[in-house]
Amino acid sequence: MTGGAGFIGSHVVRLLVNKYPDYRIINLDKLTYAGNLENLRDIEDRPNYRFVKMDICDFDGVLKLMQEEGVDGIIHLAAESHVDRSIKDPFTFAQTNVLGTLSLLQAAKAVWQPLGWEGKRFYHISTDEVYGALEMTHPEGIEPPFTTKASSGEHHLAYGEKFFTEEMKYQPHSPYSAAKASSDHFVRAFHDTYGLPTVITNCSNNYGPYQFPEKLIPLFINNIRHRKPLPVYGKGENVRDWLFVEDHARAIDLIFHEGKDGETYNIGGFNEWKNIDVIKVLIRITDRLLGRPEGSDDDLITFVTDRAGHDLRYAIDSRKLQRELGWEPSLQFEEGIERTVKWYLDNEAWMDRVTSGDYQKYYEEMYKGR
Ligand code: NAD
Ligand code: DAU
Repeated sequence: MTGGAGFIGSHVVRLLVNKYPDYRIINLDKLTYAGNLENLRDIEDRPNYRFVKMDICDFDGVLKLMQEEGVDGIIHLAAESHVDRSIKDPFTFAQTNVLGTLSLLQAAKAVWQPLGWEGKRFYHISTDEVYGALEMTHPEGIEPPFTTKASSGEHHLAYGEKFFTEEMKYQPHSPYSAAKASSDHFVRAFHDTYGLPTVITNCSNNYGPYQFPEKLIPLFINNIRHRKPLPVYGKGENVRDWLFVEDHARAIDLIFHEGKDGETYNIGGFNEWKNIDVIKVLIRITDRLLGRPEGSDDDLITFVTDRAGHDLRYAIDSRKLQRELGWEPSLQFEEGIERTVKWYLDNEAWMDRVTSGDYQKYYEEMYKGR
């Protein structure tokens, strides 16, 4: 696993370490600002788990580790993941997301090709943002043409007729999504050129515990807690398709084991929300859990300058994954978001150590000399 100390990666590591005691799970992570080993405190001493602090761009290091450990599968999540940062510093995104992925691909090819591809798998985790933005043809919302268990909640609506499918052409807009798109192309090129057994998934917005508080949901929960302004980009009309992170981790486990070589699967929640509506729900739940009158923090909402190139709408059609591998989201948004707000409020110490920067001392304190 790469990027296992990050938000989604830590959920995937936890799932695999608990579910597969006979596997040896190696978490390779550079520990950038987004990497937090405290996310994995509960499983860090398990015999089937090892953490290695390494940059995916370190080709020699990755090659040596793969040979030493006899790695036969890679689940690649390591990336620079925040769109706003990519607008300020695109080079880091090209370095990690493009060249880092290429370095892993080259290492996997070098180690696996002489042994034969049988039993090997390179699983690349990508994003729905590579497809660009969808139009909002129905700003008031319409009944979606397909539903799943998780989409039967009363708030669920679609804001247009079009959805991202696996056949859609790539039209990335931000430096982040351009770099992710480029990495996807390299993964497909390694499959088509050398026969590397690859699989790619493109997932929608995740939410849940352990997300770095630069992203909308944890940032806003923490700001509500401290009664700080909630900076809403533009008019808050942009639409995202939210998926509970544990449902994504379950999909990753399933696809790693049962997905077909060379295939792409979209993963989504069938759960479109305008940002402003998500924010109102967050305020209502956070106020209630903090014992404040519900909605009393509505005045924290502050409309600010829009994000440059801000994609209007993302909406995933994940019926291929449903049809071929039987996956569907398990949680209603209402339940998932309540669990999420409660987790952040119950884990104030985690949040405070992230916002103070203390979480970055954990590696030195706990892993030095291991
Ligand atoms: P994150 O920013 O929380 O974590 C990224 C992890 O990668 C961190 O632990 C970081 O230390 C590590 N990392 C960064 N650069 C590295 C490098 N050069 N070498 C080794 N490790 C490095 O990210 P996330 O939100 O958990 O996203 C994980 C993956 O899933 C990314 O590839 C992202 O593009 C993709 N994705 C995320 C979402 C989402 O909603 N968060 C949705 C779809 C896809
Ligand atoms: O769609 C998948 C993608 O979702 C992942 O590939 C990315 O790694 C992940 O960061 C996420 O990208 P977004 O840009 O959609 O997520 P973010 O949480 O940054 O923003 C969600 C929406 O909220 C977006 O429309 C911008 C808006 N926003 C965000 C922040 C941080 C605000 O209005 N104010 C804010 O302060």
